[in-house]
Amino acid sequence: MLVSTDVNAVAIQATRLVVDGERSDVVRGDLFSFFQPKPFFDVIVFNPPYVPTDDDEYQKSLVERDISASWAGGQNGREVTDRFLRTAMPYLRENGVVYLVVIELNDVDDTIAFATNLGYQCDIAGERAAGIEKLYVLRLQKNTTRL
Ligand SMILES: C[S@@+](CC[C@H](N)C(=O)[O-])C[C@H]1O[C@@H](n2cnc3c(N)ncnc32)[C@H](O)[C@@H]1O
Repeated sequence: MLVSTDVNAVAIQATRLVVDGERSDVVRGDLFSFFQPKPFFDVIVFNPPYVPTDDDEYQKSLVERDISASWAGGQNGREVTDRFLRTAMPYLRENGVVYLVVIELNDVDDTIAFATNLGYQCDIAGERAAGIEKLYVLRLQKNTTRL
């Protein structure tokens, strides 16, 4: 079963055109707000709004949920990413994996430290340059060795 979520109505429409099938669903909502906090997911993939933006632009994106929600990441571009990391754990199966896109401007080492502190085991699954951005994909799993 594949479930896709987004806050933006147009993104939801576009996703419905691409993801279509009996074993898939597309729901509109903020992060995991649509779901009960139960470990439903084997794999969670998130390409968040990661561009550093001033607080006004970030707050406006939260209210309007328009195209600006696709980039406005607030301070260090980390507002949505950090909220996602704080929220995701209960929805992930014991051996589940999260793949999360970050950019250099988000401070990759600090993002990994933040995730590690929350109880994830974290490494860089991939990286590539894309225009002016250096993109990374972080792979996160529940750290079962933590005391
Ligand atoms: C960088 S774009 C990625 C678009 C597309 N999913 C992709 O991977 O190419 C970020 C997407 O996250 C959505 N988004 C922003 N804040 C969100 C939130 N709190 N919960 C769910 N989706 C959110 C935006 O509307 C936008 O579609």
